[in-house]
Amino acid sequence: MRTQVVIIGSGPAGLLLGQLLTDAGIDNVILERVTKDYVLSRIRAGVLEEGMCDMLDEAGAGRRMHAEGLPHDGFDLAFDGQRHRIDLHGLTGGKRVMVYGQTEVTHDLMDRREATGGVTVYEAADVMPHDFDGEHPYVTYRKDGVETRIDCDFIAGCDGYHGVSRKSAPEALLKTYERVYPFGWLGVIAEVPPVNHELIYANHPRGFALCSMRSNTRSRYYVQVSLEEKVEDWADDRFWDEIRRRLPEEAAQKMTTGPSIEKSIAPLRSFVAEPLRFGRLFLVGDAGHIVPPTGAKGLNLAASDVRYLFHGLRDHYQEKSTAGIDGYSERALRRIWKAERFSWWMTSLMHKFHDAGDFGQKIQEAELDYLVHSRAASMSLAENYVGLPY
Ligand code: FAD
Ligand code: DHB
Repeated sequence: MRTQVVIIGSGPAGLLLGQLLTDAGIDNVILERVTKDYVLSRIRAGVLEEGMCDMLDEAGAGRRMHAEGLPHDGFDLAFDGQRHRIDLHGLTGGKRVMVYGQTEVTHDLMDRREATGGVTVYEAADVMPHDFDGEHPYVTYRKDGVETRIDCDFIAGCDGYHGVSRKSAPEALLKTYERVYPFGWLGVIAEVPPVNHELIYANHPRGFALCSMRSNTRSRYYVQVSLEEKVEDWADDRFWDEIRRRLPEEAAQKMTTGPSIEKSIAPLRSFVAEPLRFGRLFLVGDAGHIVPPTGAKGLNLAASDVRYLFHGLRDHYQEKSTAGIDGYSERALRRIWKAERFSWWMTSLMHKFHDAGDFGQKIQEAELDYLVHSRAASMSLAENYVGLPY
């Protein structure tokens, strides 16, 4: 079998890249390790930057997002018993974000791929990229016991943090940067109206809390927990009691509680691999970098990588120019490191660090007080939150 681009992984990065390539007439095949239903069962990010929304439109997959997504013009920072609104729209000259779940984005991209005849091989086992340091790369995989080889021009590694693509890069050429945080997020989804029409990010001496949503009737809430915590030990009542304790009194009283329909713990990590290109293999999205979720940047960064790589591949095929693919790694990394910095900063500002003690809590509260009362500081927060330019 032969195609122009083999894409490993059918998460949002792989699907978005695949659709843009298909629409540009560039042949591609997506290889995905698990089933379609499994991909769609993963509950992850919820906040889309305008740049990402534009890309979904460009890929012909933005219709439902515009109909059902919730545009947000601001969010609240809560600390020391008070809430303070960050007016994203006013502080950025008219930008906003879209609250629309990653699961829905994936669903819409899968539907569009099916409608346009794109090929995805689900349950592709032992996917392996080969010979990407030369002119004739290929990828092998096994499905239903049958081994298949796909020859191609390029391989896009969109297979997330645990995927095979980064692991295939020559160790001597790869440098990684990492910070692992000493806590995770316990996340819950419940069919209850959100406590507030916008998100609330809360700093509290008991730990961070986040009130988000998936719709006007479905809430997505998180609390910071230690890495030793087990989901089984968090009955719904314990979760609701904990999140209410971490919110200002008036918000806690308004919170509607109900049975959870999803509950899981995710560890927090900052990670960057450099470079993001090894000959004809490119790392895209979580395969190349991870941010802690506090700044809502993970999914949006995957989209900006896709944009740079798509333009590079399109220029290669249509203009016979290699400038875009040659510059992909450097260009993507410049934006990635800024999002890494922002996500690390928001994580440091909002979470309880046990070794920082009461002094650390006071310093965080002083910075938050400065942040919400200084227009310059609020502007910087807002500019980063809505997404830096591509
Ligand atoms: P992924 O979504 O990870 O997709 C990779 C795909 O590759 C998967 O479908 C996987 O099955 C497939 N794959 C893996 N290995 C192979 C292989 N060997 N062969 C073939 N296919 C393979 N971001 C936020 O902004 N907010 C959040 O609240 C948030 N929560 C998160 C919770 C969790 C548990 C995780 C893991 C991430 C979370 N993120 C969050 C980050 C965000 O979801 C990711 O940044 C985003 O999914 C990146 O998309 P991607 O397509 O690069 O990778
Ligand atoms: C959501 C997740 C985030 O990490 C974030 O910063 C905001 C919202 C969410 O899942 O809705």
